[in-house]
Amino acid sequence: MGKYAEAYARWQEDPIGFWAEAATAIEWDVPWRAAFNPDKGVYGRWFPGALCNTCYNAVDRHVAAGRGDQAAIIYDSPVTGTKRRISYLELLDEVSTFAAVLSDQGVGKGDRVIIYMPMIPEALVAMLATARLGAIHSVVFGGFAAHELASRIDDATPRLIVTASCGIEPSRTVAYLPLASAAIDQAEHKPDRIIVVQREQHLADLEPGRDLDYAELMSAARDAGHSHDCVPVDATDPLYILYTSGTTGQPKGIVRDNGGHMVALDWSMTNVYGIEPGEVFWAASDIGWVVGHSYIVYGPLLHGCTTVLYEGKPVGTPDAGAFWRVVEEHDVAALFTAPTALRAIKKEDPDGGFIRKYDLSGMRTLFLAGERADPETIRWAEEQFGIPVIDHWWQTETGWAIGANPVGLETLPVKRGSPTVAMPGYDIRVLDDAGHPVEGGQLGNIVVKLPLPPGAFPTLWNNDERFQSNYLAEFPGYYQTADAGYIDSDRYLFIMGRTDDIINVAGHRLSTGGMEEVVASHPDVAECAVIGVADSLKGQVPLGFLVLKAGTDGDPATIEREVVGLVREQIGPVAALKTVVVVARLPKTRSGKILRGTMNKIADGESYRMPATIDDPAVLDEIAEALRRRLKTAG
Ligand code: COA
Ligand code: AMP
Repeated sequence: MGKYAEAYARWQEDPIGFWAEAATAIEWDVPWRAAFNPDKGVYGRWFPGALCNTCYNAVDRHVAAGRGDQAAIIYDSPVTGTKRRISYLELLDEVSTFAAVLSDQGVGKGDRVIIYMPMIPEALVAMLATARLGAIHSVVFGGFAAHELASRIDDATPRLIVTASCGIEPSRTVAYLPLASAAIDQAEHKPDRIIVVQREQHLADLEPGRDLDYAELMSAARDAGHSHDCVPVDATDPLYILYTSGTTGQPKGIVRDNGGHMVALDWSMTNVYGIEPGEVFWAASDIGWVVGHSYIVYGPLLHGCTTVLYEGKPVGTPDAGAFWRVVEEHDVAALFTAPTALRAIKKEDPDGGFIRKYDLSGMRTLFLAGERADPETIRWAEEQFGIPVIDHWWQTETGWAIGANPVGLETLPVKRGSPTVAMPGYDIRVLDDAGHPVEGGQLGNIVVKLPLPPGAFPTLWNNDERFQSNYLAEFPGYYQTADAGYIDSDRYLFIMGRTDDIINVAGHRLSTGGMEEVVASHPDVAECAVIGVADSLKGQVPLGFLVLKAGTDGDPATIEREVVGLVREQIGPVAALKTVVVVARLPKTRSGKILRGTMNKIADGESYRMPATIDDPAVLDEIAEALRRRLKTAG
């Protein structure tokens, strides 16, 4: 029996004992009464009764254990030309000081703090300082606009917001404070304060009485000798809320608890990623996404590693060798990125000229997640690097891998296109729409038998009901992943796409339903549909169809442009809706359901079967023709 099979069997035999043993890697203030209580929460809770602090385990503990001089964070920012090494001891000083600042501003255990920041060390400091106080952070990705931020403010009702004066995209500087101010104007809940990190690339105008300067607060706290210790919290208390796209414009607040999260992430660093404490781990993601939470911040720091915080892009900052420079310069042992980033690099450097410019001998493994890794991209990467290229599958909801090739246990043979096998903790089944197991190898709904393992979400913020109805109701006893796929005869997983209206654009999870809500708000739009079409670089991109209101005399091309602008303004540039097409009508079933799946096939140039329930088949030809015309004008 291989090590993976052994670990999985051990977990199957005694799931509670398995995680109780993993939990010995964490320092607890008070141990749990039982590692799992099936009667608590919606489907049970991990480590109830235990007291702990995540910041303590991510920072203080390593200083106490003699890692004070080791780099905790290497900040590498090609967009500003900055590099900074922050040791665990320096991080402890920074975090305990900022915790005191937050506490002085009235933040205490259980309060929420929204963090709307670019990829700078202060963002990590803010997350850890919030955790130190037993408060709950909610990081909002910088590519989201004011309206999205406002909906998160209203749901999380934060006491304050921490932001920066600007983020830096290669093409422009993004001023954050005006976006945060606009969000507060739109929101019903009004946070007391905004703490602003002033960056020299663009200084923000602070509003007296509301906005405070991060550096000034920190230096005042230091002068006063202020710092704050870790506040013990229940293992089941929330560490953070991370909003993710749902099927409507109202994002879902994924809750992560403290205890189970630490146990799962630390276990994954050893067993999934094969990383030892002291090594350098780099997740080239953004702290606004779950990958950033789990593997830029908490996983590496809980495990006593050095994490790389990279403020740049895979290409253009300055070239397609940017990632490889970072790997060489900081001696990265494992890189975790999205397939899109590799596709962007491959496009500019197909023969790997940049790759060979750098010494990458320290990099043992390349991990991919966030979207389906297409076999061709994996093949190219394997050929270029000569190391295992490991696709793994997970979701914001789970916080860590559901399916992976656990190189820390053993490297299983890679089947390109498959994220390999179920991790301990996950009993994965494939069911048909009626809830019956499908025959081996058939496509179906991928579900996970309850309970979910430590680290996975116990519920949605303030919304057990939505948690139940969204995830647990359709297949009783199972968590519905909303991914479709199959399991082959070797138990390898194949994740083929979503069963809902979520699309994945450049590794970013977006809701077409959310975009439709914005598009429909344009005064000239009668109805609309947004679908995700295949894209060779970004995996998918959104494409919108509009039907204009009768009697509208606006120029269709102008309305199309306005709609694109509206989505950018309301959701943010990250939505990446660039193409919308005015059509006379949308294809529908006789009962009025829009046939998005068929439109998708037409847009992807795939063959499709005429839906038996279609109201008027001629509409499909109209859609195809409108698309042809539109793509021709787009050149
Ligand atoms: N703040 C503000 N704007 C942002 C932003 C941020 N943090 N991140 C992205 N944007 C903007 C971009 O500037 C772009 O704006 P534009 O329309 O004016 O050009 C828009 O959002 C779309 O961004 P993106 O989809 O990322 O496209 P891109 O062309 O800028 O970059 C890639 C393409 C492939 C290089 C980039 O998408 C990438 O690195 N993807 C990897 C994603 C990833 O790591 N995901 C995490 C999950 S693991
Ligand atoms: P997010 O919550 O942003 O991490 O997005 C999760 C979704 O991205 C999943 O439900 C999948 O649809 C998709 N996804 C993530 N990783 C993979 C992968 N390795 N293979 C296929 N799909 C993936």
